[in-house]
Amino acid sequence: MTVTTVKTQPIEGQKPGTSGLRKKTRIFMEPHYLENFVQAVWNGIGGVQGKTLVLGGDGRYFNDRAAQVILRMAAASGAAKVIVGQDALLSTPAASNLIRKRKADGGLIMSASHNPGGPDEDFGVKYNIANGGPAPEDVTARIFASTQDISEYLIMEAHDVDLSKVGETQLGDMLVDVVDPVADYKELMESLFDFAAIRDLFASGFAIRFDAMHAVTGPYAKAILVDALGAAPNNIMNAVPSPDFGGGHPDPNPIWAKSLMDVMMGDDAPDFGAASDGDGDRNMIVGRGCYVTPSDSLAVLAANAHLAPGYSDGLKGVARSMPTSAAVDRVAKAMGIECYETPTGWKFFGNLLDAGRATLCGEESAGTGSDHVREKDGLWAVLLWLNILAVKKQSVSQIMVDHWGTYGRNYYSRHDYEAIDSNVAAQLMEALRAKLNDLTGETIEGMKISTADEFAYDDPVDGSRSEGQGIRIGFANGARIVFRLSGTGTEGATLRVYLEQYEANPAEMNRDSQVALSPVIAAADSLAGISARTGRDSPDVIT
Ligand code: G6P
Ligand code: ZN
Repeated sequence: MTVTTVKTQPIEGQKPGTSGLRKKTRIFMEPHYLENFVQAVWNGIGGVQGKTLVLGGDGRYFNDRAAQVILRMAAASGAAKVIVGQDALLSTPAASNLIRKRKADGGLIMSASHNPGGPDEDFGVKYNIANGGPAPEDVTARIFASTQDISEYLIMEAHDVDLSKVGETQLGDMLVDVVDPVADYKELMESLFDFAAIRDLFASGFAIRFDAMHAVTGPYAKAILVDALGAAPNNIMNAVPSPDFGGGHPDPNPIWAKSLMDVMMGDDAPDFGAASDGDGDRNMIVGRGCYVTPSDSLAVLAANAHLAPGYSDGLKGVARSMPTSAAVDRVAKAMGIECYETPTGWKFFGNLLDAGRATLCGEESAGTGSDHVREKDGLWAVLLWLNILAVKKQSVSQIMVDHWGTYGRNYYSRHDYEAIDSNVAAQLMEALRAKLNDLTGETIEGMKISTADEFAYDDPVDGSRSEGQGIRIGFANGARIVFRLSGTGTEGATLRVYLEQYEANPAEMNRDSQVALSPVIAAADSLAGISARTGRDSPDVIT
């Protein structure tokens, strides 16, 4: 088989964001676009000669074609082996697990996560390193630099590899090992959780509903929740992955998983509901009539993880992204363990997990995970919740009431303004930045500002520093507002406003979040002039 060297030129805008390179699918399908980026990954990591890589994706439109291109490019550049999920499918946590378990040098995950899929929607490619986690900033910076000085790429001329059958084949000198995407992951879950206890819980009549959102977790949920744990097949909604996610938006939040929310808020609601996103790393947890915010979920999991076999020795520490609420901080304090605050992006947890400083991590953006892999993990969170419920024999809402009774409640919400003009967004942030030094001591909406800064993170493990990670305003009454521009959008800019209010009074624990946060919401608008600058009178998404 021949290797072709194709002359090319740098393509603008191939800078990896919060989680790899994400663009409109049609852009990825333009001549040389994917090839340039993949070659830049190879160049940025010092080549793939003799290396073993893992490859898989969430099954969205173009996933199958991109996989064939990546395989031919890995073979052309001398990779020894690529372990690829059957039909080029792998959930993100399953890919992370395979990289670790098979001691691969790294992997490529084809996904745009929770963004819609299809020819007119989004596609993405992300490089993960040998610890199974997303490439850290120094690596993505080298990849980006390589996209800017690329002049050629190597690709093998060959027929498509048959990825429909598990087993080994050759592509030139490279071995292609097609694996069952679920098996290794399922084994890992069995090692962490008390499957017998969860099976008994289900057998006792405890009813669940899991929404796979037409995305990659369908086969995983079927193998684990139905086949191994005994849930009824119809307890899994939207279980068959489709290239356009059934025309939906595979993001597990109350807006995009509305049909699940309707079931859980209805009269005949099951005991437990959950959903996962396009690539299976996000999760939403909802009890009967009771939505659990991701920040609260992290806190509850931290407080109760020791009830699951995999965490029975307790937690070494916890970590959360800066905009995530401080609910988990209170749990960590009570347990006497460290709580780390990192920038948004799972990659920032990698060093803490590798160094054994943190066991559990979480983000407000529906991500929770632990040191079992180096990605967030949707089904893992569902199984940990189920394990806790099986031991405690309480409802989700009872668990929440008890938790808030013990630690107090961090009312929390995120307001997103999507696809706003990039210049307007940049100006809004710049205006906030310019007045940060003058805000402390001022009173807004009756609340006194006690701190105002722009978050920068000094990694305690490798000493690297990441600046410009969000503007945060703290108030004397326990409220906090964070302003940040999303790093995952593909159109204009998305302004994220994170709103939080701590409440210690037991009589005030059951308020509607938007009502409890209304002074904080008003303060955010008055500080940043959101409606005046963007012309929007309400957010597009409220989580
Ligand atoms: C992805 C990343 C997360 C991040 C989220 C939101 O899911 O894996 O770590 O929290 O995107 O990022 P954004 O920059 O859009 O707020
Ligand atoms: Zn995802």
